[in-house]
Amino acid sequence: MMNQQLRAVVRGMPKAELHIHIEGSLEPELIFALAERNGVALAYESVEQLRSAYAFTDLQSFLDIYYAGASVLLKEQDFYDMTRAYLARAEADNVLHTEIFFDPQTHTARGVAMADVINGIYRACQDSPVSATLILCFLRHLSEEDAFATLEQALPYRDKFIGIGLDSSEVGNPPEKFSRVFARCRELGLHLVAHAGEEGPPAYIRTALDDLKVERIDHGVRCLEDAELTARLAREQIALTVCPLSNTKLRVFDQMHDHNLAELLAAGLLVTVNSDDPAYFGGYMNDNYDAIFEALPLELDHARQLSRNGFVAAFLPQAQKDALLARVDAYFAPHFPTN
Ligand code: HPA
Ligand code: ZN
Repeated sequence: MMNQQLRAVVRGMPKAELHIHIEGSLEPELIFALAERNGVALAYESVEQLRSAYAFTDLQSFLDIYYAGASVLLKEQDFYDMTRAYLARAEADNVLHTEIFFDPQTHTARGVAMADVINGIYRACQDSPVSATLILCFLRHLSEEDAFATLEQALPYRDKFIGIGLDSSEVGNPPEKFSRVFARCRELGLHLVAHAGEEGPPAYIRTALDDLKVERIDHGVRCLEDAELTARLAREQIALTVCPLSNTKLRVFDQMHDHNLAELLAAGLLVTVNSDDPAYFGGYMNDNYDAIFEALPLELDHARQLSRNGFVAAFLPQAQKDALLARVDAYFAPHFPTN
């Protein structure tokens, strides 16, 4: 299939997004608009000046700017407006289902009420035609005690989120630091995920699985350094939520050509493609797909696989999953006439 045809098929295919930090969808224009609306002072004079600060060298250099950007979010309506803007982008990229991360500690530490964070994001999800659920993330640079307190504050809204994640500065903050709070979340019937093996070693992927008992690994691209771990991830079909543009922007890989996504697929892993922090890393779902299909040896069968994997790995009731997978199969059927 010719490049332009393949690109069009990939852009139009049904997608699930499983790794998107809603605070990372805050575009510079909206940061400035909310700063004005709320009377928050920014360290940057213009949208252009802020955007030009988006030259990251590693995860921490990004997180510093990402937390600064989130400081403009004060009211329920701010969380609503941010989420509404993301969902419109997702819909335009043919995302049918999305599982949205949010970082409550970034906001409650500034005196924002948990109710305003969750209700604002949740209300935008309800108003969107895209199927959307929420995953509350603990910040791993903070203590487990702080995570427990955050869980306690969120429990009155237990029906508005489906799972728990772990994000922020990875190296030096291994998954096992949060073993007890994840055990509690498991008792509460929440789905569990954690960032592991982005900058941190394969050992962090192991402890995320064994100590936290997570069902998916966010990023996980460093698993290939450990053959035994890779074999286990393939055998148990543990999904990896890979974020290609994030990985090149944060220098996990120097260039997209160096990204290991094709090797991960070839190893039989349940790889999914996601945008992570689209306002900061150069784009939303279709930008990520354009970048990998441009730079890597990927063909039509990989596109169908990636589309299917997102729905297979989603935290959805089986009937809803089957219906979405049937839409994937119907979409690709004309392109695989002999199947
Ligand atoms: N890694 C860790 N923490 C994050 C990320 C990420 O890619 N994005 C937002 N918080
Ligand atoms: Zn992430």
